[in-house]
Amino acid sequence: MKNEKLLAPSILSANFANLSQDIRYTELAGADIIHCDIMDGQFVPNLSFGPLVVSAVNKITELPLDVHLMIKNPENLIPAFVDAGADFISVHQEEVVHLNRVLESIKAFNVKAGVVLNPATPLNTLNEIFEIADFILIMSVNPGFGGQSFIEQSLNKIKKLNEIRQKNNYNFLIEVDGGVNSQNIKKISDAGCNIFVAGSSIFSTGNIAAATAELKNNI
Ligand code: DX5
Ligand code: ZN
Repeated sequence: MKNEKLLAPSILSANFANLSQDIRYTELAGADIIHCDIMDGQFVPNLSFGPLVVSAVNKITELPLDVHLMIKNPENLIPAFVDAGADFISVHQEEVVHLNRVLESIKAFNVKAGVVLNPATPLNTLNEIFEIADFILIMSVNPGFGGQSFIEQSLNKIKKLNEIRQKNNYNFLIEVDGGVNSQNIKKISDAGCNIFVAGSSIFSTGNIAAATAELKNNI
């Protein structure tokens, strides 16, 4: 499981007037998970979409849905995203006071529970959570927008997290989100990452299927 390598296109950069077709291209080209970025204009300065769109996506793809909550008080909306078909749900360490309770509540729905760290948030804030989290998402950009550049320091953070995992025999998967492209995905993979979110490097290219396949091949 810790050797899994999964590609998760982020539909934030897809064409929302043609979402179904864009998702289909990635699915046929080997995508493993669909990443859904939920933004409320409060926790991050941008608005995206909610459970209604996640539910619509769930109806048109067989792939698991990874719901990344960039919202205030995410605990209030967890049941709605579970109903919408989420298979993975992640909440930000910076927003959730009762992280243990919230992760357990996600797991109680039989959904994979993850914690997200912003670039400025250190790994040791999760010392007491490593044992119960199903996955840890390392933000490699400051959240809120697609199309930003990968923050190089994130690579060290992923390496360190992988070392912590190996040393303690933890089971969580490591996910990366932000600025992932066909040039840097291999070194991120070598650092120990398992799940690779990619938005603009898939959907803002002329050929979604080719971009998906290239990323998969480069992992
Ligand atoms: C950023 C989001 C990302 C975003 C990634 O706040 O969490 O998932 O869509 O987009 P790219 O791959 O373009 O950096
Ligand atoms: Zn995301």
